[in-house]
Amino acid sequence: MNSVKIAPSILSADFARMGEEVATLKECGADFVHVDVMDGVFVPNITFGIKMVEDIRKYTDLPLDVHLMIVEPWKYVERFAKAGADYITIHTEACGDRTAETLDLIRSCGVKSGVVINPDTDVKEAEKVMDRCDMIVVMGVYPGFGGQKYIEEVGDKIRTLAEEIRKRKLSSLLEVDGGVTAENAGKIAACGADVLVAGSAVFGKEDRKNAVAQLKRN
Ligand code: DX5
Ligand code: ZN
Repeated sequence: MNSVKIAPSILSADFARMGEEVATLKECGADFVHVDVMDGVFVPNITFGIKMVEDIRKYTDLPLDVHLMIVEPWKYVERFAKAGADYITIHTEACGDRTAETLDLIRSCGVKSGVVINPDTDVKEAEKVMDRCDMIVVMGVYPGFGGQKYIEEVGDKIRTLAEEIRKRKLSSLLEVDGGVTAENAGKIAACGADVLVAGSAVFGKEDRKNAVAQLKRN
């Protein structure tokens, strides 16, 4: 089994020093940079948008995994793609019956597509569209804030989707986002996750290289 990949979330970085924060991630052993875009409508918090993706693109060659927690994401997909996103992931809860077409739109922009489900959303919502996805994301917390506690019940969703990806012989990555710590990373990876997002468990630590190594040890 390959070791799990780590996607530090810049939500927990120092926004005033974002270039430097992003630039250090590769040497710390990170595999992706997770970019949490929040609009204050889909989630009760506001972060940053297209220009942040464009600006941090210059500071790293790691893939940018852009998580859109916004309503009507299809309106912005093309601009996030042009700004340098490698993956764009969208919530079924924000897209409703436009989920499939939004995933296709992402791919048509030359970007890898991903669907995200909240902890209380049925895995069927992801299963319906997973053939159009390069990444499937299960939230380990309700989106909006970093540093929340992982909801144990999502373990079943991770296992179900990992099995479904295997059965359908898809090459999509299974990502878990929210509440990942050095203590629970091994257990979450064992459920079948390929990528773990970690905000506070990386940026909240003095020694980030060691923090990433701890998350990978499982
Ligand atoms: C939550 C975000 C997560 C968050 C993870 O809305 O989508 O990516 O930054 O932060 P931690 O790892 O601190 O739970
Ligand atoms: Zn996220």
